[in-house]
Amino acid sequence: MSLLSTMGETRKRQASVTATRPATDPGRQKDDFYRTPDSATRALLAVESLPASIWEPACGDGAISEVLAGAGHRVISTDLVDRGYGDARRDFLMERRLAAPCIVTNPPFKLADEFALHGLDLGVEVMALFMRLAWLEGAARRSKLWAVHPPARVWVFSRRQTLWRGDQEAQDRGGAIAFAWFVWTRGHVGAPALGWIP
Ligand SMILES: C[S@@+](CC[C@H](N)C(=O)[O-])C[C@H]1O[C@@H](n2cnc3c(N)ncnc32)[C@H](O)[C@@H]1O
Repeated sequence: MSLLSTMGETRKRQASVTATRPATDPGRQKDDFYRTPDSATRALLAVESLPASIWEPACGDGAISEVLAGAGHRVISTDLVDRGYGDARRDFLMERRLAAPCIVTNPPFKLADEFALHGLDLGVEVMALFMRLAWLEGAARRSKLWAVHPPARVWVFSRRQTLWRGDQEAQDRGGAIAFAWFVWTRGHVGAPALGWIP
């Protein structure tokens, strides 16, 4: 193996290991910028019929927004950080009005509960959050989120996914983490339906 490919392999390993670090790890990307694979957003569009106007409130450099826009949706993109895409310096948790009736995002992992609760507080019609399947765990989360606001549907990815640090180039599409789309619809009551994304 050449030195170059060895270095490439090392970088590959470092990047994907970083993406699997726990949310409390100080080595995680600042502000939790991990890019969602296009295929994950396309999979959501294949199983959900989303409203025409969608708000991506943690848009990063537009990975999700671009796929939604490409599918014909009107997308309002905002983010806390200026990543050269959408409207920057917009803290979702400080927003007081919905920019669109539907929210689709991959929220910062360490603020995922707050994002979900805030979207619901704002009265969102449909909200789809791309999150680790393990988000379903946790006694505190169960009482403040799942028991009070059960999602209508949870779409589990049959194949594992890898999210790449926003400041690094994607090296491959090998999956490392179990992910799902968690979808809330206004007025839904009862346990969520479970579906699988091939
Ligand atoms: C996991 S990345 C996802 C980026 C993009 N949604 C995607 O899927 O490729 C999370 C994004 O949330 C942003 N973010 C962190 N805290 C935020 C906040 N309070 N309000 C809005 N955006 C925030 C980060 O800057 C980062 O771009």
